[in-house]
Amino acid sequence: MSNDKRLKDRVAVITGGAQGIGFGVAERLAAEGAITILADVNTAVATEAAQRLAGQGYRAEALSVDIGDDSSVAELAKAVDRKHGRCEILINNAAIGADTHIATMKIEDYHRIIRINQDGAVRMAMAFVPLIRKAGEGRRIVNVASIQGLRGWPNQLAYATAKGAIVNFTRALACDLAPDNIMVNAIAPGFVDTPMSILPDGSHEYDSDWFRDIYVKYGRIPLRRFGNPADMAGPIFFLCSDDARYVTGQILSVDGGASATF
Ligand SMILES: NC(=O)c1ccc[n+]([C@@H]2O[C@H](COP(=O)([O-])OP(=O)(O)OC[C@H]3O[C@@H](n4cnc5c(N)ncnc54)[C@H](O)[C@@H]3O)[C@@H](O)[C@H]2O)c1
Repeated sequence: MSNDKRLKDRVAVITGGAQGIGFGVAERLAAEGAITILADVNTAVATEAAQRLAGQGYRAEALSVDIGDDSSVAELAKAVDRKHGRCEILINNAAIGADTHIATMKIEDYHRIIRINQDGAVRMAMAFVPLIRKAGEGRRIVNVASIQGLRGWPNQLAYATAKGAIVNFTRALACDLAPDNIMVNAIAPGFVDTPMSILPDGSHEYDSDWFRDIYVKYGRIPLRRFGNPADMAGPIFFLCSDDARYVTGQILSVDGGASATF
């Protein structure tokens, strides 16, 4: 097999690229030759992350965006267009975590989570499809959904609602964009060790009693461990690669087998 960089010179915009899964994806796509744009609301962390990638000899830059805001997303698309004139790959990864229960949730909190986690991906796709149409080979959109978009979950009402919408947004968008040869897919991660899964007391979810009991001891995750960002980056790379040229509208669970159990 050739060792050529398989995403050479492809422009890849990764929302939430500053840390966690987004950074893991940026690192993998950059290693495959992509020009990576870490688009994040946390500009300082994104800038430092892009510098780390550049220090490894990769092409990476940071740009500021709030995916919850129309004009901010429009500015991001303009900046990418000015500098690169196209975009091959969009990774809709940014989201916020939040506990919400139907009995106690404030409607403002619900709307904020939907505005970012659900509408953010739609907003980004609307702004970037014209730029993806200007690209040559390898036009891709990959959305980061969640196992919570496929299953019910207690105390996660707004987040799970948004992720469920991302799942069907992926399918509908794939149908809209098939004539443009733009493949649209999603991954549905299970548990992943990132800053999002650090608990308020600073401990990691994988160290909690409930995780060890339910998911490890009783095997609700057949692979019996948390995932890490590199575990997510591989499948996302596959979906961005030429090998996935006949794959669209699919949701790939990347969860250590959790969704294969009851
Ligand atoms: N960590 C998990 O266990 C897990 C599981 C399933 C799905 N996911 C999903 O994976 C994706 C990445 O999560 P993570 O765990 O890496 O989270 P994280 O909190 O570590 O990183 C999220 C990144 O998104 C950025 N961000 C947040 N709001 C933004 C906004 N409005 N505009 C632009 N950037 C914004 C943050 O600054 C941060 O850099 C999310 O879509 C999340 O829902 C995570």
